[in-house]
Amino acid sequence: MTKEKETVSLEQQSSSNRRAFMKFGAIGAAAAVASVVPAVAQTGKDAASPRKELSGKTSFITGGARGLGLATAEELARAGSDIVLYDIASKAIPNVGYAISDDADLQAAKAKIEALGVKCLAIKGDVRDRKSLNDAMARTVSELGSLDIVVANAGISQAGSIDEFTDADISVVYDINVKGVILTTQAAAPHMKKQKSGRIIYISSGLGRVGNELFPIYTSTKWAVIGFAKSAAVTYGRDGILCNVIAPGLARTQLADNPYILKKMMPNDPNPTFDKLSAMLMAGNPLPYGHVEPVDVAKAILFFAGSATTKVTGEVFDVSYGANARNVA
Ligand SMILES: NC(=O)c1ccc[n+]([C@@H]2O[C@H](COP(=O)([O-])OP(=O)(O)OC[C@H]3O[C@@H](n4cnc5c(N)ncnc54)[C@H](O)[C@@H]3O)[C@@H](O)[C@H]2O)c1
Repeated sequence: MTKEKETVSLEQQSSSNRRAFMKFGAIGAAAAVASVVPAVAQTGKDAASPRKELSGKTSFITGGARGLGLATAEELARAGSDIVLYDIASKAIPNVGYAISDDADLQAAKAKIEALGVKCLAIKGDVRDRKSLNDAMARTVSELGSLDIVVANAGISQAGSIDEFTDADISVVYDINVKGVILTTQAAAPHMKKQKSGRIIYISSGLGRVGNELFPIYTSTKWAVIGFAKSAAVTYGRDGILCNVIAPGLARTQLADNPYILKKMMPNDPNPTFDKLSAMLMAGNPLPYGHVEPVDVAKAILFFAGSATTKVTGEVFDVSYGANARNVA
């Protein structure tokens, strides 16, 4: 069954459920559900295993070796999707003040995903490299059959006052956080256009909604991600490609929980920790949290990858303990 047909048949099911409910009440509707679900459960790429929301789909996640990318990969895999983890996995990037993933992280991530019972490719590559991304997406389609969901997640952070940043500091964060997202989209679009379907989910930040004196360059890259994602939504809507953005608040990952960022955020504390930072930030938040966990963000990404959002594009969705409630719109 094609993906389009799958969507239609789910819609048909729910309208037949509605009709059954009106005619026979709740028991009739339950019988109608029972009569259609097994038929769906037996179709698709793997008829032997129970069908899940993303069974038969393939998800490509940049920066998938750890943090939000890995949590997303786990969530999408639990929903039945095969996974491609695309990550630079080089341990260090010049002009980035904290360690990034290495080979061991990428291999451990692949093992974690495979343990969930789906296929997983781990591809070492840089989102700044057009050819590498093009090759990785082509390999995805040839080995896993399709490219259905792309999560443009790879990103780096840096902190300091505007006056401190060198040319090289500015270039590295723009090249990864903005150009990398654009190249990821350009590499994915031809495959998704051919399929006439696809989801691209962009990871911006709560800082992509406001100004911030401690993360001025990073903040501007995260605004750029939103501007680009909305442009992609407008461009590719008629090709069946939906483009939405998740804007996480502070998340417990090594991008934030590292000595470089913590010292910048808590300059007066001789022993800054992520938990202290979270407690400090909680005071200003509508919900009683100072940070989110990676799984909180991953669940929102799953929502934008799944059947609940087939008619949604160009949206920005915050996972940020209510912080966006203070913003203008
Ligand atoms: N952690 C937070 O508080 C937070 C908040 C808002 C938004 N975000 C965004 O979420 C995304 C993921 O961040 P995270 O917190 O999981 O960080 P992380 O550092 O834990 O993970 C980022 C991953 O991206 C990979 N990566 C970095 N540069 C790359 C490149 N050039 N090519 C390919 N892979 C590369 C790293 O190796 C790493 O595995 C980023 O875009 C970040 O800006 C994070």
